[in-house]
Order: sequence, then C-alpha cells, then structure tokens
Amino acid sequence: MPLPEAFMQELKARSDLGEVAASYVSLRRRGKNLVGLCPFHGEKTPSFNIYPENGSFYCFGCGAGGDVITFIRRIENLDYMEAIRFLAQRAGLQVPENAVDDGMAKLKARILAINRETARFYYEVLNSEQGAPGMRYLLGRGLAPGTIRHFGLGYSPASRYGLVDYLEKKGYSQNEMILANVAFKARSGRAVDRFFSRVMYPIIDLRGNVIAFGGRVLNDEKPKYLNTSETPVFNKGSFLFALNFAKGGGAEQMILCEGYMDVISLHQAGFPNTVATLGTALTPGQARLLSRYTKEIVICYDSDEAGQKAASRAIPILREAGLLVKVLAVTGGKDPDEYIRSNGRNGHAKFKNLIEACGNDVEYRLQKIRQGCDLKSADGRVAYLTEAAGVLATLENRIEQEVYAGRLAEEIGVERSAILAQADKIRGRLRKNQEKKEFRAFQQRVTGFRDSINPEKSTHLRAASAEEALIAYIAKYPEQAISISAKLPPEKFVTEFNRRVYRVIMGRMIDGKAISLTDISAAFSVEEIAAIAKIFAKYSDVSATGKDAEEYIQVIEQEQMKSNLGNADSVPAQDIQTYLRELKKQKK
Ligand code: CTP
Ligand code: MN
Repeated sequence: MPLPEAFMQELKARSDLGEVAASYVSLRRRGKNLVGLCPFHGEKTPSFNIYPENGSFYCFGCGAGGDVITFIRRIENLDYMEAIRFLAQRAGLQVPENAVDDGMAKLKARILAINRETARFYYEVLNSEQGAPGMRYLLGRGLAPGTIRHFGLGYSPASRYGLVDYLEKKGYSQNEMILANVAFKARSGRAVDRFFSRVMYPIIDLRGNVIAFGGRVLNDEKPKYLNTSETPVFNKGSFLFALNFAKGGGAEQMILCEGYMDVISLHQAGFPNTVATLGTALTPGQARLLSRYTKEIVICYDSDEAGQKAASRAIPILREAGLLVKVLAVTGGKDPDEYIRSNGRNGHAKFKNLIEACGNDVEYRLQKIRQGCDLKSADGRVAYLTEAAGVLATLENRIEQEVYAGRLAEEIGVERSAILAQADKIRGRLRKNQEKKEFRAFQQRVTGFRDSINPEKSTHLRAASAEEALIAYIAKYPEQAISISAKLPPEKFVTEFNRRVYRVIMGRMIDGKAISLTDISAAFSVEEIAAIAKIFAKYSDVSATGKDAEEYIQVIEQEQMKSNLGNADSVPAQDIQTYLRELKKQKK
C-alpha cells in the first residue's frame, strides 16, 4: 500500500536534499547548483552535483543519481521504506505505519530479531555449564569476564538443533532462520544449527542491531572461522567489527586490524578505537565509512607476508577516502593480540609507543621498496629511486613531496630536484591516464552507450533523446504537462523505459499531484531513479521553450512511425502514405 500523499509532501518539504547531503559531503555553491566530491566513489575533482531546482543529484563521474530518498538509500545502505523512516525520523515526522506493507522491511526486521535472540542464546550458553569449553578457551586467551560481557561473546553448543529449537519456541519459522543464516537446510528439509562448538562473536551495527556472527573453533580444525554470509541485513564489505564501540569516542585516530581477536584484545588493553574488517580485504565503502568517524587510520595488520601485502593494498583505498594513514608493524608477535599478550602488564604502554613511533604510509611504502633493492649497487640505487619517485608521484601535497625527496636525496646522494623531476614526470603520466579513464567513462554515460536501464536507447538514439528532453521539459514546466499529454499519449514513446517515466509523471499530473523525483521514486528502482536524475542533470542548464517542446513531440512521433515501419511488410500501405505526408509537412 502506498504512503499517503500528504505525508510524502510533508516529508519532501522537510527533507531538503542539499541539507541532507551536507552531513555526508562538503558542498560548494556553483551557480544555482551545489557541487562536491562524490560520496559514492573516490575522486579528487568534484563531479557530484545537486540541483535544488528539482531536488535531484547526479554524479558525472560514477553515474550515481536520484532524489533525497535515493541518496539516503545508497549512502545508508537502506531499502525504500527504511530510507523513508530514516528521513521521517530526521524531520520529526511519524510514518503512518499501517499504510505500509513492505515485505522486505518486514523480513529484515524478523532477521534482526532472530539475530538478537541468537546472540542472547549463545551468550547464555557460554555462561552455563554447557559453555564451559568456550569459557575456558576465552579466559585462556587472556580475556577478562568484563570484556567477554562487553562484546557479548557467546558459545554455540555441540548440539544440532539447540538454536533451532530455541528460536522455534520463540515463534520464528525454520525458513526465517535459514534466511538469517543461523541455520542451514539439511537434506531432510529440516533446519539445522549452522554454528556448533564455536566461540561466537556477534557483529553489531551502529544502531545496535546484531547483523552477523563470526564463530571460531577452539582447536586447529578448519575452517578456523565460520561467518554469516550475505543476508538481507548483512554485507561483509560494508561494515567493520567493533565500529559500534569505536565511533563513540570521537576518535581522532582509529586502529584498523585484521582479526576479531586483535580488536577485542586491544579494546581490553585500553584502545577502544580499534576496528577490523570482516574477513575480507578492505573495501572503498568501508574506508568511506571510517572517514565519517575519524581522520587518521593506523593500519595494524599481521606481521606475516599476507598481512603486509594486505596493508599495502589498504593504503591507497584509505587515502582515496581522504584519511591520513599510518602503518604500524608489530614486532615479536604475529599479530597485535599476541603482541599485547606477550607484553603482559606493559601491553598498553608498549603498544602506545609503537603507535607514536610508527611511520606514515609514505615512509612505510618507501621502506618496503628499500627492502627489495640492493643499495650497494648502482643499479639497485637507480631502481630504488625510480620506484620511490613513483610513490612521491601519488602525493597530492607538494610540501610532502619535497620533504621525502629531500630525505631520499640525502640518503642516496643525488640532487633533490632530480627526484622531484622524475616524480613530476610519473605524475603527469598518471594524471593523463586518469583523465583518459574518466573521459571515457563520462562519454559512455552521456551518450548512453550500453545503457542498461534503457537498452533501446542505442538503437533509437534520436527518439530517446527527444523523449528525455521532453521529460525534462515537463519536470521543469509542470504547468505545460496537461496540454502536452493531450498532444502525445505515452503509447507514442518509442523506448519502453522513457514511456514508463512519462506515464508515471503524466498519471500524477492528471491527478493533480506533484512530480518531483521524490514524488515518483516509489515507482522505480534505485538504478532507474539514477537514470531519471541523469536526464534532469543533463538538461538542467538547457532552457527550452514551448516551441522546443513541440519539436520534441514531432521527433517522437516521427520516430515512432519509423520504428513501426521497421517491419514494413506488416504495415498497411495507407500508413506509409500517412507517414510520408507527415514527414513532408514537418520538414517544410
Ligand atoms: N577469517 C575468516 N575465516 C577464516 C580465517 C580468518 O573469516 N577461515 C577472518 C576473521 O575475521 C579473522 C580474520 O580473518 O578474525 C583474521 O584472521 P586470523 O589472523 O587468522 O585470525 P585471528 O583473528 O588472529 O584469530 P585467532 O587469534 O583467534 O587465531
Ligand atoms: Mn590472532
């Protein structure tokens, strides 16, 4: 059931896109519009535009676009109804809930409830006799009872149906448990506990929801960890373990580790600003999430080769998100947890020293290069400086470049200017490549080449262009809509997607309803709304007159006839005559 019109209008009036977006993006005014760095992809020059005139946004870099609801859906990773609730809460409005029947939102709520019950179950088991092996294990790893409680750690019993029976008694169906990924479906069709005989780490999001679990075996069996896979409430690349605790401190700096145990150990040792990825390489989404809560990241990955490789890969991703980056290498201990434990009482102080002494990402990268070169030979020194210049080339800040070039010059005994010149050369090349890439992406988008939302566009470019221009015109001059709809019924549209857009807009106009992107966004997917926002963005600076609109209509009519003629055999001769006459008349 759709939401009441009055509610939607009120919500819209109180959810100015510019204001909403400003809490995620820093925006500058450019003419009538606002521009900033796109929050949906990494970029250095702003291509993210907000058009206050029609409440839409569009990024020319990555093609993200839409209205305020789409913006929230994408940036907060919510579905349509959740985004409405989010905005309503922000605006101090009550969502008329009984009008809402949203299957997905209901399922998500059920899964979150199952997860909460499941966490409670594991927690209780851990603190019962049945959980003794788990408790022994955790205490044996040096965790205090208070830490175990703080993280809500648990234990999944050795049983096959322990959790399933418990959840069934609470009124959840086996199917829901399977969807929540806390149970799997046995061949018999019955749901079976997914986790057993493991210590359980609940993963809690920023709103306090349990969104997933990681479960560790108590011995050397494989797999060491079993994690919740994708569910409607969980995507492992878009959240970080313990961010719910870490974000509260207003931390200037956060520590990024690889493992659950590292995080728990560091929190216990007095570093509550520690987080970890969820068993995958760091994603740009996670980096952007971090950048909302802190300025600087200390990467503290395992000291083995895999850990160091992962650190090198994380550096540019964090930098892209605008974060300062430091790299801490633990010595005498494979990972931070081992380091803390092996230092006993002095763990906190010693780790703090490591943080204070650790170099930034540039120093780290230079050091890695140095390790791979034989500085005793001339060839080795050339290789070192050349690769090092490649690192300097990636730095935005000229002062930073000068400082490191100075250090390198001194170290190897060459002129600083020679190193800088080499860095500039590489930088020029990098920039050219980047520009080429961006230009190609831009062209693809603007010409609609391989447009997946409107696939007919490539074969009906002229028609689709006129259709889009007309749609943009109506959105700009809604008072013209009625007369246009009388001249051009939706059936005349050539491309199906544009026809749908036109039909939805006209349908609302005829009912006397508003037609901004927000008003129509319930009828389209996030991708479709982005495509519509793109149309608005493309025409935002084009001022069209009634005469232009007439022309668009004519082109659409011509193209429609042409496309009907595509299969000329099936067209009565009379129609062809009419078509030719029309064409002549229009050319005049
Ligand atoms: N991981 C995983 N699946 C595995 C191994 C690891 O999902 N089979 C993820 C987990 O999130 C784990 C992280 O990768 O926390 C780091 O792995 P590792 O260093 O092996 O584990 P630790 O967290 O250090 O665990 P422990 O100290 O208990 O061995
Ligand atoms: Mn470990």
